[in-house]
Amino acid sequence: MSTAFTPIQLGNVTVPNRFLMGSMHLGVEGETGVAHRMATFYGKRFEGGVGMIVTGGISVNEEGKGSKSFFQFLDPLHANELKLLNGALKGKGVMCAQLFHAGRYAFDRNCVAPSAIRAPINRYVPRALTEDECWRTIEDFGRSAKIAHEVGFGAVEIMGSEGYLLNQFFSPVTNHRDDYFGGDAKRRMNFSIEVLRAVKKNLPEGFPIIFRMSGIDLIPGNPSFEEVIGLSNALRDENVTALNIGIGWHESRIPTISQLVPRGAWVPIARRIKEQTPGVPIIASNRVNDASTIEKVFSEQSVDMISMARPFLADPFIVQKLANGHSERINTCVACNQACLDHAFQEKHVSCIVNPVAMNEDKYNFKKTTNPKNVLVIGTGPAGLEAARVAKELGHDVTIFEKRDQIGGQFQLASHIPGKSEFNETIRYFKNELNAIGVKIQLNTEATIENIKAKNSDVVIFASGVIPREFHLKGLELLPHGSYADYLTGKFVPGKAVAVIGGGGIGVDVAHRLTEENDPTLESYNQKYNINSFTNAMIQTAKAKRKVGVFRRNGKHGAGLGPTTFWALKQELESEGVEFFQGLTYKEVTKDGLIVVFKNGEEFLYPCDSIILCVGQEKEDSLYEQYVKQSQNQKIILIGGAKDAKNIDAKRAFFEGLEAAYNI
Ligand SMILES: Cc1cc2nc3c(=O)[nH]c(=O)nc-3n(C[C@H](O)[C@H](O)[C@H](O)COP(=O)(O)OP(=O)(O)OC[C@H]3O[C@@H](n4cnc5c(N)ncnc54)[C@H](O)[C@@H]3O)c2cc1C
Ligand SMILES: Cc1cc2nc3c(=O)[nH]c(=O)nc-3n(C[C@H](O)[C@H](O)[C@H](O)COP(=O)(O)O)c2cc1C
Ligand code: SF4
Repeated sequence: MSTAFTPIQLGNVTVPNRFLMGSMHLGVEGETGVAHRMATFYGKRFEGGVGMIVTGGISVNEEGKGSKSFFQFLDPLHANELKLLNGALKGKGVMCAQLFHAGRYAFDRNCVAPSAIRAPINRYVPRALTEDECWRTIEDFGRSAKIAHEVGFGAVEIMGSEGYLLNQFFSPVTNHRDDYFGGDAKRRMNFSIEVLRAVKKNLPEGFPIIFRMSGIDLIPGNPSFEEVIGLSNALRDENVTALNIGIGWHESRIPTISQLVPRGAWVPIARRIKEQTPGVPIIASNRVNDASTIEKVFSEQSVDMISMARPFLADPFIVQKLANGHSERINTCVACNQACLDHAFQEKHVSCIVNPVAMNEDKYNFKKTTNPKNVLVIGTGPAGLEAARVAKELGHDVTIFEKRDQIGGQFQLASHIPGKSEFNETIRYFKNELNAIGVKIQLNTEATIENIKAKNSDVVIFASGVIPREFHLKGLELLPHGSYADYLTGKFVPGKAVAVIGGGGIGVDVAHRLTEENDPTLESYNQKYNINSFTNAMIQTAKAKRKVGVFRRNGKHGAGLGPTTFWALKQELESEGVEFFQGLTYKEVTKDGLIVVFKNGEEFLYPCDSIILCVGQEKEDSLYEQYVKQSQNQKIILIGGAKDAKNIDAKRAFFEGLEAAYNI
């Protein structure tokens, strides 16, 4: 791993390797009594080899809080909680406090900004700061930096990207001022420069000050690349310790960290900034999650450090595993956002679908049992895999029966959707991990009453998952048709005009696969979103491979899917001409297509040559129902889709696997 494991000097701190754990709001901030839980979470990541961790944004004053669940430096209760946090982490690594002000992104009627322009993602119109108030806010950054040092932080990061206050001052889209803090690009920079000066003035010599600046805002009309370089150079000239390159604003219509984004997509921007800003370490961030992307970054010397955020939720030991050459055992972040960013936006505590222990480390401490049992797990979907892994880690003897010739269950099926090939990493992780820790996996072994009995285990965990629901409609036999499972396994090959019956998560995913067969690449992504224009990034319309219509009886398409990701998928499908129909009943299929009746009574023929059924799933619990009646003196646990197919997803399945192992 070339230079990845050489130390780097950031001010008076020597970071042992080139990784930074990027800033993540954990969803528990703003409360007292949370220091222990946070310290256990961060402590695990230090133990796993990262040398410096940036906290989620900590507001520099009251109006800068993004929401109620934020710490605020000037609040003594919060400062004390942060002191407890740092006390608990003393000697483990360097905690870096992110100095944060939400500006017009604060979900509060008293929000402030450079100009009174409402953010599309906020219902409140901000009040424009007066020039005096600008100076007072700058002072708050300085005071907060001083408190950060006093309460035990070893570094600070000034939040100047992602569309928050400093970024709002730098952008002509949100800064319409004509004073010291607005006008030409130079004056739009002044707020950032003055904040850096104030922070520096309040900290001892050599105290590391990272500035998270926006490499590209992804808002039409955003600062030009030359202006961005103007800012990076100005910050360097003010002796900032390092520049961490953030990407995109929260209101941007370009997905920046989801599965629609190829790995390493933003390294080239950080690299261009590095090339034109010699003399200061540059940190690349966003969507770097695997060994080969990391290796490429360092072997090409694109940047000096990599910031990873979500990959540390998925695997606290990612750095150690990379260092020891055990990347095959990394539990890779699959960029789904389901338990991290979605939770943060819903003001729930953050965790991770593939590692539900994240942020629950104080509850699940993996102490070995004193009463080891023989455990049989049936099924290797997410629920069974996690149950088996955790049960073994707790000291039990574990065997799995899987009827198919590979592990993964529906998650494996999902990996055929563009972008969801990330799920193959989870399957690779479990395969290697279960082998390494000694779980016995019996593939091609369908569990039956007889072979379960013969195994004579103390505990049987049924994780037999779900199967596609059957569906009958007059005339369906007149057109080629198949279930989503038939389509994704290649058993059914649709034609050129397809009606997808069912518009839940799977229906929408199937539409995605019908319009686009491959994962996004750097070229296809840059082209799709016109990224190379730099100031005019937006989705471009494209001609899809097929005509696709997605039908849903009631409710919105993709209802319940990730608030931080689904909008982008829908936007992509619409840009490829996918049509969405809802509020209807299915009447019949003829050789010309699908006939539906809308709620207003209007009958409509959708011309198509094939149909894919995505009409939901049923729990596969028949074996459990039979077995439970005849077993004696055995603990039997039912989990995942097999327990309840309604709204089942991998997040719930992994979590129930974890819980089941703890309930043995
Ligand atoms: C196209 C698609 C996209 C999806 N996208 C997402 C997503 O983005 N995010 C998300 O959270 N979820 C997603 N899901 C849903 C997710 O995959 C499922 O909710 C999850 O896999 C359910 O996990 P499970 O362990 O309960 O069951 P399953 O994944 O159904 O696994 C059950 C396993 O048990 C085995 N089995 C059954 N009976 C027996 C038996 N008698 N003996 C031995 N083995 C048996 C099966 O072969 C299977 O391997 C998607 C699903 C699909 C189809
Ligand atoms: C749950 C969550 C909370 C975040 N909170 C912050 C934050 O408070 N400040 C910040 O600068 N970035 C925040 N981010 C953005 C991350 O620092 C990072 O840029 C993003 O997750 C992409 O990088 P990754 O692919 O390595 O995760 C957050 C991300 C997540 C997932
Ligand atoms: S929930 Fe999904 S995106 Fe978030 S850290 Fe886990 S795998 Fe990554």
